[in-house]
Amino acid sequence: MARIFSGIQPSGELHIGNYLGAVKNWVKLQGEHPGAIYCVVDYHAITGAYDPAVLRARRWGMAKSLLASGIDPAQAILFMQSDVPEHTELSWIFTTITPLGDLERQTQFKDKSSKLESIPAGVLMYPVLQAADILLYRADSVPVGEDQIQHLELARDTSRKFNAKFDVAYFPEPKPLLTPTRRILGLDGNAKMSKSMGNTIGLLESDDEIWQKLRPAMTDPQRVRKSDPGRPEVCNIFQLHKAFNAEHTVAQVADQCSTAGWGCMDCKKVLLEGMVQELTPIRRRSAELDAEPSRVLDALADGGRAARAIAQQTMGEVREIMGLSGLPAT
Ligand code: TYM
Repeated sequence: MARIFSGIQPSGELHIGNYLGAVKNWVKLQGEHPGAIYCVVDYHAITGAYDPAVLRARRWGMAKSLLASGIDPAQAILFMQSDVPEHTELSWIFTTITPLGDLERQTQFKDKSSKLESIPAGVLMYPVLQAADILLYRADSVPVGEDQIQHLELARDTSRKFNAKFDVAYFPEPKPLLTPTRRILGLDGNAKMSKSMGNTIGLLESDDEIWQKLRPAMTDPQRVRKSDPGRPEVCNIFQLHKAFNAEHTVAQVADQCSTAGWGCMDCKKVLLEGMVQELTPIRRRSAELDAEPSRVLDALADGGRAARAIAQQTMGEVREIMGLSGLPAT
C-alpha cells in the first residue's frame, strides 16, 4: 500500500487555501492509508528572520489546527519535524548528490532570493530538506497543493540519483496527490492564497470576520452592475462555492449568476452559509483543544516517537548502503 507523507509550515492557524489544497485531503487519506504521516515542518520555517516566541506559538497553533481539522492521531502519525533530527541528517546526505544548478533553478528560490540582500544558504537548500522529509519515510505519495510540484520533482530526482549512485533500489519516487482544489486564490482573485500575501481567510475566524473579508472580495471583474450577467467560470467566489457547497447549490449559484438573478452579495451570502457549515465543527474542536492542550502535546509526543522509529531504521540502512557503518570486509 502507498505510504503517505506530507508537511506544512507552522504559519500559525490554517487558512482555507492550505486546508482545501492539502489538509482536507490528508484527513480523507488517513482513513484509506493507516499510518499516513503528517509533519509540521518547523525547520523549514527558520530560513528567514523570525521571533522565537512567535514560532513557538505558531508551531502550537498549527498542530492544534490540524487536529481540529480532523487529523486523528489514532489513524495517522502527526509530529513536529524538529523532534526527529534524522531529517537534517538525511538532508545533509542529499546535499552531496544534488547539483547546485537544480536548486538555483527552483522558482521559489528565485522569488525569495530576489527580495533578499543576503541570501541564507538554507533558502537554497529548502527543497533538499523537503526531499529528506519525504524519503526518510520512503513515502511514495505526497498530498499537496499545486505550488509544491516543482519541489516534488526535485525529491524524485534525488531518489533516482541516490539509487543510481549506490546501485540500489532503495528510495521510491514520490508523486504528488493533487485535488480539484489544488490552487486556491486569495480574496484579491489574483495571487495564491497565502499568509505572506495577507489575502487569507483563517479556518478559525468568526462568521463576522469571514463576512467582512468576503464582502469586498473580487468577483467577475466584468460584472459592474447587479443587472450584468456574471461569468461563474472566471469568478474566484464561484471556485470557493465548488469547494464548500453541495453540487445542487453550486448549480443554482451558476444559474443565478449567469442570468443576473442574484447579485454578487447574494452569492457571497450563500458561500458564507456553506463555509460556516464546514468550519463550525472545526472551530468547536479547536476550542476543546485550547481547553485541554495536553491532548495536542500527547499527540505530538506519540507521533514523534512513531516517526523517529521509522526514521532511525531508514538512516541505519542509508548509512549501511553508503559505507558509513560497520567494519571493512576482510
Ligand atoms: P505550505 O506550508 O506552504 O503549505 C502546506 C500545503 O498547503 C498547500 N497550499 C495550498 N494549496 C492550494 N491553494 C493554496 N492557496 C495553498 N496554500 C498552501 C501547499 O501546496 C502544501 O501542500 N514546502 C512545503 C512544506 C513541506 C512539505 C514537505 C510538503 C516541507 N516538507 C514534504 C510535502 C512534503 C510548504 O511550504 O507548504
